[in-house]
Amino acid sequence: MKSVINTIYESKLAELKSKIDTLHAPVKLTIVTVGDDPASKVYVRNKIRLFDELGLECNHVILAEESTKQADLDVLAQKAKHPILFQLPLPNGLIAPDLPAHVDVDGFGSEALGQLVLGQNAVLPCTVQATIDIISAHCGEYNFSGLKVAVVGRSNIVGKPLAIELINRQSTVASFNSCSDLAAVDWNRYDVIVVATGAHGILDNSQFIEGQLIIDVGINRVDGKLVGDIKHHDGIFSAAAITPVPGGVGRLTCLHVLGNAIKLAECP
Ligand code: GUN
Repeated sequence: MKSVINTIYESKLAELKSKIDTLHAPVKLTIVTVGDDPASKVYVRNKIRLFDELGLECNHVILAEESTKQADLDVLAQKAKHPILFQLPLPNGLIAPDLPAHVDVDGFGSEALGQLVLGQNAVLPCTVQATIDIISAHCGEYNFSGLKVAVVGRSNIVGKPLAIELINRQSTVASFNSCSDLAAVDWNRYDVIVVATGAHGILDNSQFIEGQLIIDVGINRVDGKLVGDIKHHDGIFSAAAITPVPGGVGRLTCLHVLGNAIKLAECP
């Protein structure tokens, strides 16, 4: 799967670079972080690096965990004139403000999500787009219709919007979550299984068969090592195609932050 991911990455990057050359408006991004969550630091560094490499403006607003109030985030959101994102998770019960669609580069806000549900041309959450890229590359760009997909996870930023996007593409979608009786599910019925629960070991590689595509969205730290939601048993080889962690979905998401910032610059 690593080479498939690399091919997707290179072709998306080339596509985005050529789009930037044709734009009339500048591509800008503001990233807001609160505190110093170690995983967020890595994600944010990757986003800033990509913008820097392409000569694009990316401002990083760093707020202190102890003193930041919800009102501070709300003011930043209200003042935003170009794409902005609030890196999650936020500490101390703070929540990301509900951004209007024209600055919502994550596509997490109610306006963008409403557009998605209505099948309009929404800015899609980056992890959803990365998952769609992998399915397209593996199953064929025009083969979503009738594709049987299981989505395990019901988060607002991956599971729910992904299920809706797949429905928009006429896939047959089954939705599961950590409270579902996962042991009773016949996983062999699905062409594609996307696992995005944030719980390592919720499924394992022995449960899948040849011909299936398994997309592991989870990123967990276990014994100091980065691992996905799927447990890979020592000595048990799965014939299914399973995306790696790290170097799978996560490698592609950063590109879609850029893609969404371009989309917002194209139609402000
Ligand atoms: N934290 C983990 N993934 C994401 C993402 O895609 N966007 C934001 N804002 N925070 C995240």
